[in-house]
Amino acid sequence: MSVTSLLGEIADTGRDPVRGGYTRPVFSAAETDLREWFRAAAHARDLDVETDRNGVIWAWWGAPHDGALVTGSHLDSVPGGGAFDGPLGVASALAAIDHLRDRGLQPARSIAAVVFPEEEGSRFGVACLGSRLMTGALDPDRARALVDADGRTFAEVARDHGIDPAHIGADPAAVARIGQFVELHVEQGRGLGHCGPPVAVGDAVLGHGRWRFLLTGQGNHAGTTLMDDRRDPMIVAAKVVLAVRQLAASVPHARATVGRILPVPGGTNVIASRVEVWLDVRHPDDLVTADLVARIASAAETAAAEEGCESMLIEESLSPTVHLNPGLRAQMALALPGGRVLDTGAGHDAAVLSAVVPSGMLFTRNAEGISHSPEEHVEDSDAEAGARALADVLEALL
Ligand code: GLV
Ligand code: MN
Ligand code: MN
Repeated sequence: MSVTSLLGEIADTGRDPVRGGYTRPVFSAAETDLREWFRAAAHARDLDVETDRNGVIWAWWGAPHDGALVTGSHLDSVPGGGAFDGPLGVASALAAIDHLRDRGLQPARSIAAVVFPEEEGSRFGVACLGSRLMTGALDPDRARALVDADGRTFAEVARDHGIDPAHIGADPAAVARIGQFVELHVEQGRGLGHCGPPVAVGDAVLGHGRWRFLLTGQGNHAGTTLMDDRRDPMIVAAKVVLAVRQLAASVPHARATVGRILPVPGGTNVIASRVEVWLDVRHPDDLVTADLVARIASAAETAAAEEGCESMLIEESLSPTVHLNPGLRAQMALALPGGRVLDTGAGHDAAVLSAVVPSGMLFTRNAEGISHSPEEHVEDSDAEAGARALADVLEALL
């Protein structure tokens, strides 16, 4: 089946009428429907489906065994995200299995298509939650206690979805099943442009982290509180946003973003008592990231002091820069002659897995490079070329 047809089957799932695009947070109704769609698509292919204790779905072509060839991605999205970030890799995994069967291939070792939960960290704040739990990179106690915007813990939500929170965490048996992991993903920059081969092999995944500022002041009345009497954390938040841009702009290769702010209680005629400001910082050198975050924190403290407020910084997740496995990358490049090799500024489960198993990535052209936006776009012909390239790589690795 073509990638386009597979994605067509889920084109109406999780559409966001307000933001545009798709909002598919992990274990929401939309993402649950997508997980069911994946299970049904796998069953239709006679793949054996299992969900492991961290909520990772595995669809096996052949009996599960250690050292299998594993491919896949995620189905959850950012708020108002595009159609391809995650689902392209999942649909391409299924389509690649179809290609290999059409080619009459009898795999010498089993192949599994997988879906990782909460890659975006949009609901519980920690990116790549499923792969971090599986590899032991995230303490299960911390994961169980993570809360979503409605105050529900990951433990509660996971239990509602058939995952026993007592058993989440490092899963060496699941990791041992992965001989090599290959994740196909939509390209999220302009690295592939409009011409040349539509698929690239991945190299470096930029180090990235997330932090949350808790800015506290004095909640008060917008009409009766004189300007000189205010301790307004919104003013601090505004200065923090500008400091993030100014400080990051002076560091070559740095990217720093404030994409989310929550004033509490959040009323037009209310001076906020508290503002939460989320910060995303990325740089190839993890020490530079740490230094930039420290300087942003210091700017926030200065801004808070000027306003009679307080600033606290909480780290939510941190991933170092990763160079995907060079041997695997060379094998993948050999299977795709003429293809380019690209770094990415986005985070991926493949980068987390890369700490414990040989992992590689393929990027499918998204010529304008827009992502985490409803305008994310992949041409149908490029999506199909991506799945064929994934099949070529899997065949070569077998
Ligand atoms: C995930 O897409 C990220 O890079 O934030
Ligand atoms: Mn993403
Ligand atoms: Mn993604």
